[in-house]
Amino acid sequence: MLNIVIFGAPGSGKGTQSDRLIEEYGLHHISTGEVLRDHIARGTELGRIADSYISKGQLIPDDLMIKVLEHVLDSEPELTSKGVIFDGFPRTIEQAKALKEMLARRGSRVHAVVGLEVDEDELVRRMLDRGRQTGRADDNLDTIKNRLKVYHSQTQPLRDYYISEGKYHQIDGNSDVASIFDRIRTSLHERVPELQSEADKR
Ligand code: AP5
Ligand code: MG
Repeated sequence: MLNIVIFGAPGSGKGTQSDRLIEEYGLHHISTGEVLRDHIARGTELGRIADSYISKGQLIPDDLMIKVLEHVLDSEPELTSKGVIFDGFPRTIEQAKALKEMLARRGSRVHAVVGLEVDEDELVRRMLDRGRQTGRADDNLDTIKNRLKVYHSQTQPLRDYYISEGKYHQIDGNSDVASIFDRIRTSLHERVPELQSEADKR
């Protein structure tokens, strides 16, 4: 099982670059934001709880979020056959520790963390654009501001956590989608030989 965490601020391109990583390495994709939005759309109990946090730009509490992720991994065994791109999880040190344990129980680990680093005015521009085009509920200026504040206080500390584990790949995420992906691939292939061989097989 080869696992990649795609990490970055709201609007940094985690979902966009995940699509490319799926093609390149044949991995499965779990976006915790998409899992929660699906529950909101279906009107489940979890969806009602999640909506009350997402609409304010706050994080869902760690204990609940960790249970949700564990449930996704358990309910879809094909996810863990080859490996997973974790998009939007972990977002706190507690979640990172939980992910480490979850993967260890499955005889695996996080192989690389792709950290997309994008200027703040570009992040806001991308999210406002998407809000106008798709109507995504948390892409309005007030909620965006809070999502960025929460990112800086609760999620950014994870950058140092993964640097200290030697797993962090710092990627400039300011340019066009294809150039960013080239940088990601070069960085991964330099430092994670398992991913290079997986790409060569395809
Ligand atoms: P989540 O869905 O994960 O949202 P997010 O982190 O705010 O990130 P986005 O999905 O907005 O952006 P992205 O980085 O995926 O960028 P994208 O590729 O879409 O989480 C939503 C909420 O759920 C959270 O706020 C929280 O409440 C809750 N939640 C989720 N996970 C949680 C967890 N683990 N713990 C607790 N709570 C959790 O790109 C953005 C836009 O820019 C798109 O329109 C795209 O087309 C465009 N774009 C992408 N790349 C480029 C480029 N290079 N140039 C120009 N435009 C680009
Ligand atoms: Mg996303």
